[in-house]
Amino acid sequence: MNVLPHLKSYLCATKLIQMKLLDGKATAIAIKQELAQAVKDRKAAGKKIPHLAAILVGTDGGSMTYVAAKVKACEECGFESTLIRYDDSVSEETLLRRVQQLNEDSSIDGFIVQLPLPAHIDEMKVTLAIDPKKDVDGFHPFNVGNMVLNLPGFLSATPAGIMELMHRNDIVTEGKHCVIIGRSNIVGTPLSIMLTRNTNPGNCTVTLTHSHTQNLRDICLTADILIAALGQPEFVTADMIKPGAVVIDVGTSRIEDATKKSGWRLAGDVKFDEVAPKCSFISPVPGGVGPMTIASLMINTLKAMDLKGK
Ligand code: GUN
Repeated sequence: MNVLPHLKSYLCATKLIQMKLLDGKATAIAIKQELAQAVKDRKAAGKKIPHLAAILVGTDGGSMTYVAAKVKACEECGFESTLIRYDDSVSEETLLRRVQQLNEDSSIDGFIVQLPLPAHIDEMKVTLAIDPKKDVDGFHPFNVGNMVLNLPGFLSATPAGIMELMHRNDIVTEGKHCVIIGRSNIVGTPLSIMLTRNTNPGNCTVTLTHSHTQNLRDICLTADILIAALGQPEFVTADMIKPGAVVIDVGTSRIEDATKKSGWRLAGDVKFDEVAPKCSFISPVPGGVGPMTIASLMINTLKAMDLKGK
């Protein structure tokens, strides 16, 4: 019998083992530096540099922050970027026309339409209008299908970022039980597939839980790796954690905080202070999955340009 996992759990429970922070911010900086070097090499060889475009509709605070961070990351990597903004009242037809223009614009390697969109616009219709070869978010059914079949394509940025964060921190996933809370199209569902594939990271036994799951706490207590992606601030508490577990927090909710100048702070789906002492690894919010999502988008943009053979 391999006693090591039991020893690790015991030491963790007795706080003799140090929890390690999954520092997404530092990992993303390392990735962006690698990409910046790749761009420098391309420039030196007289090749085109990657160009990402982003469409932002409306003035939602979270969406504006994300898109600004994506534009900043382009600068850090030496990519070109174009930000296209529309009012909340923009028609679906106008948006679809702009998507078509970006599909046809050979100077743009990849583009994203920041979600959510206003209620009068059909998000799936917009996603379907994006050329899968420029779909650096990996949201188009063509790319989702390729991901399921383990064929080349764009991987959705947040799950790909989580996989990379685990990989770069040498987290062993093979044979582990991974519990994901939340079955969204952007995170939970694609991540459940990526983690079951015969890859490293991967080869997990995955339980994908959701709002109809019964006995969630008991299921979480069996998780070697727990991924919280439900969008409910501080939902995961210490009594749901198996000692020594790896905990990854995908939540980014704005909650009121009178001590902040802005009047709010960013909260994850995990009650960090009480959960962290029980973990072997935990990702913080902010500074965990968020920066990795952006780093993945940059990787996909470079890949989009390479696929064009430029
Ligand atoms: N909204 C929340 N996350 C994302 C993302 O990764 N891409 C886009 N386009 N919209 C989002």
